[in-house]
Amino acid sequence: MPDDAPTRKRRHVDACLAGPVTYRTRTTGFERIDLPYRALPETDLATIDVRTSFLRRPLAAPLLIGAMTGGADLSATLNARLATAAQRVGVGMMLGSQRVMLEHPEATATFAVREHAPDVPIVGNLGVAQLRRGFGPEEVRRAIDAVDADALALHANPLQEAMQDGGDGDFRELLPALRALPAAVGRPLLLKEVGHGLAADLVAHLAPHGYAAFDVAGAGGTSWARVEQWVRFGEVRSEDLAEWGIPTLRALREARAAAPAATLIASGGIRSGLDVAKAIASGADLVAVALPLLEPATRSVDAVEAVLRRYVADLRVAMHGAGASDLAALRRIAPIPRDATA
Ligand SMILES: Cc1cc2nc3c(=O)[nH]c(=O)nc-3n(C[C@H](O)[C@H](O)[C@H](O)COP(=O)(O)O)c2cc1C
Repeated sequence: MPDDAPTRKRRHVDACLAGPVTYRTRTTGFERIDLPYRALPETDLATIDVRTSFLRRPLAAPLLIGAMTGGADLSATLNARLATAAQRVGVGMMLGSQRVMLEHPEATATFAVREHAPDVPIVGNLGVAQLRRGFGPEEVRRAIDAVDADALALHANPLQEAMQDGGDGDFRELLPALRALPAAVGRPLLLKEVGHGLAADLVAHLAPHGYAAFDVAGAGGTSWARVEQWVRFGEVRSEDLAEWGIPTLRALREARAAAPAATLIASGGIRSGLDVAKAIASGADLVAVALPLLEPATRSVDAVEAVLRRYVADLRVAMHGAGASDLAALRRIAPIPRDATA
């Protein structure tokens, strides 16, 4: 529904601000594992090193702002605040879907965040369903270049689209297009879900075709099948579908086992620095956080920055308590089932 796109995005943002849009019964799984705690960690909190890099840019921590907005008027303000905070803290930022921008070029300004975030990775965004609707390598390149992004994430979201009034229901024959796209575009591409999880077989299938990263975007945080029902009906009519998805920890572990060399982003319900640490120890290279930053972005740059800094500070505490002086050391730590420590 091209002409409604800015309005729809606004309704999504409003629904996410009004809540409740998160899973009720399904959880990420991170609450079921612990990092082994060490009373004598042999680390100095002051020198815990959480730096890494992504898309050839340095990151102060393995953290990205998840894909959220663009298009509607409010989005320009939200994106500018998110980007400014990302630059201050030194973390990356994923933009919301740029479909509206390609269909309504006047919306480009709402995505133009590079001036606010000159040094951090910025990732554009389009839906895979668009690849069946006339979008190809040229449009993907245009979406990246128009906002001076470092890469573009394609979101695969059949459940969200199925629950959306007028959403795309046709996901046939996308695999050949997705296999060919990285080489045809000639820019780094990511594949993500939107909170119902990427299955490991898909990650394993596409990993050899040049994807820069896969964001598992699993279940346990924001449920887009829930958001769409709120937007469409003002209520959740199919509770079971709103609870469907691959929990983030399972999606991450299975993707890591299936694609040992892929760059993996864990997202979907990452709600604390301890969650970040558990995700890294479970095989993630980076994590992304969306919903917890939305409401702060309606207030100020400082509000977004405070949330991001808390994630980073708590990650450092978690690493110290687990005796990991840097991310490589954290990756060598095996999380333990929580039941075993109860
Ligand atoms: C307000 C809002 C808008 C979103 N818009 C997009 C989008 O345009 N494209 C996309 O790929 N994901 C979008 N997402 C999904 C997030 O990137 C993320 O995958 C999902 O919300 C799970 O992470 P969370 O539990 O931290 O929110 C959006 C999320 C929120 C909260």
